[in-house]
Amino acid sequence: MIAWTIVQIGVLIWAIRMLWKYYMANGGNKFGLPEPPGPCGLPVVGYMPFIGSKAHLTFVKLAQKYGDIFQVQFGTQKVVVLNSLDVIKEALNKDASFAGRPNSAAAEIFVKETTSSFTMRTGDAQWKFLRKLAIKALSMFASSRNSRLEAVIDEASEELHAELSAFNGQPTDPQQTIFSSFAGVIGTILFGLDFSNKDSLLKPMVSLNETVSKFFAIGSVLDSLPFGSLIMRHQVKNFSEAMKPVVQIVDRHIKEHLVHCKEEDDVRDIADAIALAAIQTPTDVKQQLGLTDDKIRFIAIDLFGGGFVTATDSFRWAINLLAASPDVQDRARRELAEVCGDHPLQLADRSNIPYNEAVLLEVFRFSSLVTLSLPHSTMEDTTLRGYFIPKGTTIFSNLFAHHYNPQYFPDPDSFRPDRFLTADGKLDADKAQLVIPFGVGKRRCVGENFARQELSLLIGRLLQHFEIRQDPSNPVNVYDTVPGLNRGPVQTPLIFKKIVL
Ligand code: HEM
Repeated sequence: MIAWTIVQIGVLIWAIRMLWKYYMANGGNKFGLPEPPGPCGLPVVGYMPFIGSKAHLTFVKLAQKYGDIFQVQFGTQKVVVLNSLDVIKEALNKDASFAGRPNSAAAEIFVKETTSSFTMRTGDAQWKFLRKLAIKALSMFASSRNSRLEAVIDEASEELHAELSAFNGQPTDPQQTIFSSFAGVIGTILFGLDFSNKDSLLKPMVSLNETVSKFFAIGSVLDSLPFGSLIMRHQVKNFSEAMKPVVQIVDRHIKEHLVHCKEEDDVRDIADAIALAAIQTPTDVKQQLGLTDDKIRFIAIDLFGGGFVTATDSFRWAINLLAASPDVQDRARRELAEVCGDHPLQLADRSNIPYNEAVLLEVFRFSSLVTLSLPHSTMEDTTLRGYFIPKGTTIFSNLFAHHYNPQYFPDPDSFRPDRFLTADGKLDADKAQLVIPFGVGKRRCVGENFARQELSLLIGRLLQHFEIRQDPSNPVNVYDTVPGLNRGPVQTPLIFKKIVL
């Protein structure tokens, strides 16, 4: 009986929304413009049942019919999908109207449980402030003369290479080994741990990542349905419980940095930089924004959440693609040998290894890891390319659609790093700028620079020490992907053959 009533109310809400949509699409808004076109859906669930597990591909097909901007109904939520570079840039570089995040129950709970998170927060003054601090902390870390990035990469490479060598050239699925090394890099750099001591902090943080992904995967579906937060109440409780120990550990680790860090030259890691940024923020600014030092310190959770799985998955994409392209691998390794001789690749070498940099760009393009970027939301009624987009509309930027657009990237299904080189073998800066794995505009990824440095060094150093080969009985299929929040690379055994120097 109750279920039947819920269905009836759901249908009623849907009917009202459809009438409202019809009214707005026919000029019933202050701009007198129609809303973007798009396919019809079913009552209550909208177009959700037709999206499938690879939404980016479904959207590419819909764009062929409806154009670069169209809208689909996800349950009770209206989603506008942007499918080309021009439209994505035009929207996200516009004023702040596209800088929001959807006001989902899942995101609200996340913000509340972590006491502060700017990634999930809409584009308000607190988001702006915390984002600025995060960028400041990252750049303080990058430019500090005590920065430990290269030292940490040394340790992570050593651990990774030792573990891969232990397989003695036998096929192995390196997922866990890579996971541990990358957790070590970001954990050490964020929280200033000793690399060898990383597990104390990282175990709960890594399990938190899984908890958050699961929570958002369920949350985004249930958010779209009427009474979603009621149906979600058990997940909310479990999530809150899972967050508590993590919040305590992070707080303790960063508080320890307050004692050490008094000025910019003291900065050894990002925790130091965040602690210092918190101290340097004038009290009246904190009061105005309703922030405390505790809240500011939780920027570290945003950075861990944003920077761990994305970097790990990009690295795994890189080794799968390199294993499947021995010619690319040989050329990249030759360049490294010419430029570095027998010293390990350093950040300062990056400007002299255009082919390796092109490989990284092509890994970003081919993988298009965060296919639809993170969802944005309109913060006010706005317009785009002659369409009206009401306040509170969810916006997806289909980065995959752009990265596979043959107009920009001819033969997009092929892994061809030299598409980013000029005729005389230099990196083509204009073409490089067309690759946008970190999004564009006001909410563009804050960890971009760090991610590029980390991946460039770890991939280059791996190539300096190992030949990566396919397992002949189980070859890599780089067109097969694991659906999820990110477009994950397939897990597959590979052979790491040590190069004798
Ligand atoms: C290959 C690695 C990475 C990829 C592909 C990636 C991609 C992205 C994308 C697509 C967004 C959404 C942009 C938008 O909403 O328009 C984003 C946001 C974000 N990323 Fe990354 N990211 C990577 C690494 C990192 C790293 C290493 C960090 C931290 C050190 C980081 C921290 C963040 C944060 C905090 C946000 C939220 C920004 C905001 O809401 O204002 N990411 N990233």
